[in-house]
Amino acid sequence: MSKTLQAVRGMNDILPEQSPLWQYVEDTIRAVLESYAFREIRMPIVEKTELFKRSIGEVTDIVEKEMYSFEDRNGDSLTLRPEGTAGCVRACIQHSLINRQTQRLWYTGPMFRHERPQAGRYRQFYQVGVEVFGLEGPDVDAELLMLTARLWRRLGLQQVSLQINSLGTSAARARYREALVEYLRTVHDQLDADSQRRLESNPLRILDSKNSAVQALLGDAPRLADFIDDESKAHFETLCGLLDAAGVAYEVNPRLVRGLDYYGRTVFEWVTDQLGAQGTVCAGGRYDVLVEYLGGRATPAVGFALGLERLIALLENQAVAFPDAAPHLYVVSLGAQARQQGLLLSEQLREALPALRVLTHCGEGSFKSQFKKADRSGARYALVLGEEELQRREAGLKPLRERGEQQTVAFDALGGMLAGLLDLES
Ligand code: HAM
Repeated sequence: MSKTLQAVRGMNDILPEQSPLWQYVEDTIRAVLESYAFREIRMPIVEKTELFKRSIGEVTDIVEKEMYSFEDRNGDSLTLRPEGTAGCVRACIQHSLINRQTQRLWYTGPMFRHERPQAGRYRQFYQVGVEVFGLEGPDVDAELLMLTARLWRRLGLQQVSLQINSLGTSAARARYREALVEYLRTVHDQLDADSQRRLESNPLRILDSKNSAVQALLGDAPRLADFIDDESKAHFETLCGLLDAAGVAYEVNPRLVRGLDYYGRTVFEWVTDQLGAQGTVCAGGRYDVLVEYLGGRATPAVGFALGLERLIALLENQAVAFPDAAPHLYVVSLGAQARQQGLLLSEQLREALPALRVLTHCGEGSFKSQFKKADRSGARYALVLGEEELQRREAGLKPLRERGEQQTVAFDALGGMLAGLLDLES
């Protein structure tokens, strides 16, 4: 017997019972983004490989080890997007969206990284990304953080905390990099293999090391904050003041550096200790040089992306309530005529009550088996159509989730009655 095919490792199906929570989260995010006047942009899932190399950086984990790159039939090197910022910047430059104008944009969709799969870390995962172009002040950094804080409140999410840091300008980082490398060379033999490799390629990432021995060594290392230029410092101080004024709690984490090369000045992560090792739910920062670097007019920019799987896992952990997507009504019918009437009546009810969710029984089946299915569907009511009721243009309405007798309702009165019972608008 041949083995049944499975999904690719690290790539998940989102099953029907999971989708109501996904839809609730997506709808809530969209509503919050709209309340800040953000507009949606949709980019292709595939871009030229060069775009990611140039924007994320050649010596980052993503570009070195994690991209799904392939040659298409023309011999062009293409890549399944590992993130959305690069494609969003590319689209803005290509369509002249940011010439002397600001943009507040968002996008959502699958991203692809060939990482080692584990809980909260997948090879296909969904992000919602937010990017603001053309504003250089710390007020917009603060607005993005207020937006995320509002989103957690709307979703009922707890146990996430905000960490922020400033990376300064690239010149400041270059000076710091030299000092850091000089120090780390003196403790080279005590570093783990990964940090030794990063010492040559991307030493700032060592600050992010999860290895506690490495973290202990960093206690005596020079501090990035001591190398930051005055303007970046002032930017960061204003941001902290704005967050204080808005009541958004945060912690300054001087070792927060982020794994993508395009950042400068503000960086931030919303983290939780509820998801094991993959505790970053949402992350981002400023990337004021990227637009120009990719060929556009110099344009300051800031943004973030949140990982939907992690956010949803956290909401599930906290058993956050979300709207039910089960049918309101399951239409049970006996006999060919009643079945036909059931189909037509369902259509009329949908017409009258656009928010009504009706599951109409199709095919044969005894009353008993239809009621079993109605129950399993989670429907609130069964609408019962038999030959007799049909003659009188009436149907039986039976509550399935609470005690109560079946009552007889005239076809013409059904819409009004269901609207009242289910609190639906006509
Ligand atoms: P990132 O930190 O690489 O940033 O990813 C953002 C979020 O995506 C993470 O915090 C996490 O929640 C989620 N995520 C990343 N990798 C995985 C994975 N393998 N499995 C599940 N979830 C994952 C960016 O992507 C930047 N483009 C964010 C940004 C936008 N910066 C400025 N604008």
